[in-house]
Amino acid sequence: MKYNKAILLKNGKTCLLRNGTEQDAQALLTNFILTHSQTDFLTTYPEETPFSVEQEREYLKTKEDSKREVSLVAEVDGVIIGSAGINTIREAEKTKHRASFGISIDQAWWGLGIGRALTEACIACAKDGGYAQLELEVVSANSKAFGLYQSVGFVEYGRNPRGFRSRLSGWQETVLMRLELD
Ligand SMILES: CC(C)(COP(=O)(O)OP(=O)(O)OC[C@H]1O[C@@H](n2cnc3c(N)ncnc32)[C@H](O)[C@@H]1OP(=O)(O)O)[C@@H](O)C(=O)NCCC(=O)NCCS
Repeated sequence: MKYNKAILLKNGKTCLLRNGTEQDAQALLTNFILTHSQTDFLTTYPEETPFSVEQEREYLKTKEDSKREVSLVAEVDGVIIGSAGINTIREAEKTKHRASFGISIDQAWWGLGIGRALTEACIACAKDGGYAQLELEVVSANSKAFGLYQSVGFVEYGRNPRGFRSRLSGWQETVLMRLELD
């Protein structure tokens, strides 16, 4: 899916929110590794990055060509500083109405409005893609992300006391959230 929107950040800079393209593969992987080393609230560790640059290129091409799924980047002054995306939970008749949402932003750019803008952009894309429900899983201690999700309408539908097992802190409780789109 294609997407393009410019937003004004709280520091006065302009941030471009757009779908990632094949050309962004290396920059996105670099940003992915950076963001996954900055917080203990994401699902994976930096070295668990699943893709090579070539695989990331193919992944981004698939998302750009998709009528439903999207991989968005946030770009400031030509540098990718964050990303977010939606993926179909499972391409089966009973589940294809459900999409999952994920987001990560370079810590140097937190608190400027990018998280809210990327989240709202993904919600808009999910509606355009015809999904009936957007879903996510967030560590309950991640009050910033939890607060952001609640503020855009996500509601909690369960908790998993052993959702993640962190190297640093052991069990992390995760909150399951969903947003109806229709
Ligand atoms: C969570 C994350 C995406 C938020 O992005 P961000 O760009 O810092 O968010 P924003 O600047 O748009 O702020 C979002 C809102 O959260 C609010 N907020 C900040 N701290 C908060 C807190 N402790 N509790 C509740 N709300 C909080 C802000 O006030 C803001 O609301 P506003 O738009 O009404 O001012 C970003 O911090 C991040 O990438 N974190 C690491 C990865 C991560 O946790 N991803 C989510 C995994 S589920």
